[in-house]
Amino acid sequence: MDLHAEKILILDFGSQYTQLIARRVRELGVYCEIHRPDLSKEEIRRFAPRGIILSGGPASVEAPGSPRCDPYVFEAEVPVLGICYGLQLLAKLLGGRVDRGAHREYGNAEVEVLAARGPLSDFRPGDRVQVWMSHGDRVDALPPGFEAIGRSGNSPFAAAAHTSKPWYGLQFHPEVAHTPQGKALLRAFLFNDCKVTGSWTMKGFIDEAVTTIRQRVGEQGRVICALSGGVDSSVAALLLHRAIGPRLQCIFVDNGVLRQGERAQVEALFVDRFHVPLITVDARARFLEKLAGVTDPEKKRKIIGREFIAVFEEASRDIQDASFLAQGTLYPDVIESVSYKGPSVTIKSHHNVGGLPEQMKLKLVEPLRELFKDEVRALGRELGLPEEMVNRQPFPGPGLAIRVLGEVTEPRLELVRRADAIVQEEIRAAGLYTQVWQAFAVLLPVQSVGVMGDERTYESTCVLRAVTSVDGMTADWARLPFPVLERISTRITNEVRGINRVVYDISSKPPATIEWE
Ligand code: XMP
Repeated sequence: MDLHAEKILILDFGSQYTQLIARRVRELGVYCEIHRPDLSKEEIRRFAPRGIILSGGPASVEAPGSPRCDPYVFEAEVPVLGICYGLQLLAKLLGGRVDRGAHREYGNAEVEVLAARGPLSDFRPGDRVQVWMSHGDRVDALPPGFEAIGRSGNSPFAAAAHTSKPWYGLQFHPEVAHTPQGKALLRAFLFNDCKVTGSWTMKGFIDEAVTTIRQRVGEQGRVICALSGGVDSSVAALLLHRAIGPRLQCIFVDNGVLRQGERAQVEALFVDRFHVPLITVDARARFLEKLAGVTDPEKKRKIIGREFIAVFEEASRDIQDASFLAQGTLYPDVIESVSYKGPSVTIKSHHNVGGLPEQMKLKLVEPLRELFKDEVRALGRELGLPEEMVNRQPFPGPGLAIRVLGEVTEPRLELVRRADAIVQEEIRAAGLYTQVWQAFAVLLPVQSVGVMGDERTYESTCVLRAVTSVDGMTADWARLPFPVLERISTRITNEVRGINRVVYDISSKPPATIEWE
């Protein structure tokens, strides 16, 4: 069946929550896309949505130049749901009145259901729904033909509906976790009004993606994929392998700044278990040579990025007839909209693989372009990727080179590698691996005095960094239990000769960053 037969169009007016709307809709098994707010009539027609959601946004509809949608939204004969700015815009465009700035409301509020219609159809009049408000303006007069279906202490039109058409507006945000029943509200709109069936599943996605990849690559085409061991490239590789089998050629570059056992893990998984054609390039010496004497973090990053491209190009030259390059681009990187884009943009901008296609004249295959990170993980599970890979914490492209402060040498890398392996082990053993965003060791260019047995030591200091975060953009230091900290510290100083002191980093981001370089 056509997975994209039931599409919801989300017009983005710039809210920080727009991506959350899309994720909630997808969690309900409904495919949706985020687009510019001013999509033209023709573009909307071509998209053929089953329903349209107007997102929130930071502007005031009364401000000159604030974003508008094409009036066709209300002529397309599909259900429309306006959220926050979306409701105000709907009111403004259809003849209501919006009061600017007089009734700000941020935080929890209670909405009393007045009529069980549209998003509120699973409730009964008189029910109270806890919601999250975040607005400066509010609707003071509804357009002709509309009625209030919910009210709060501060907003007489906290939820509104047209009396005969499937047009609705919510002053609050159903997409955020602070509106506990928000998903039920979206479900009611999608399933009752837009009449979708919820057929967007990862199983279905695989079948469709396999067909699309085969069409794009053709009967003979070969695809090269840079495998890093991270979630995105691993899932992209498995999906491509499902589609074209041995015509996929993966390349894994051992740049000498990987974690302990990483190369063996990737080889065991992809070669032994999934039988994916894989070339491992041992470029350790080459990277270390280039890094010799370099202490500046940005220089380290540039050297590693450049060298990666050079090694990858050389390795792929030997692959006959390859005309495609696979990339694990995700949906947040391709959304064409005005809103805040999330961490992947920043992460991508200094990612090693950037810059490959332009130089290599290969056509791109991006099988994950439509997916959010959560969906990529779900897809990975569906393709048989083991849980420890699916849930793997992020690891930077420049690897341990940016966790060895000062000069990167093999003995210093070995110190951080061994300390890091202990951190990984203990964090997993304590059941904390998926609760923290990242936990790792950093080696400082600092020596301090210690005592071991009867001997005085003068050895390196290692930092333990563990943070919690939702998206990597901001982070807080993790409140690890003292016994876990103690075990990690004791094990590192006992087992890693050359480190006699472990300190814990209690800085948040901002002002610090997650990595030290
Ligand atoms: P910072 O240190 O900027 O890191 O707070 C935010 C997140 O991005 C990861 N990171 C990278 N990821 N290539 C990547 O793929 C890189 O060069 C890179 N540098 C940082 C970092 O581990 C954290 O999760």
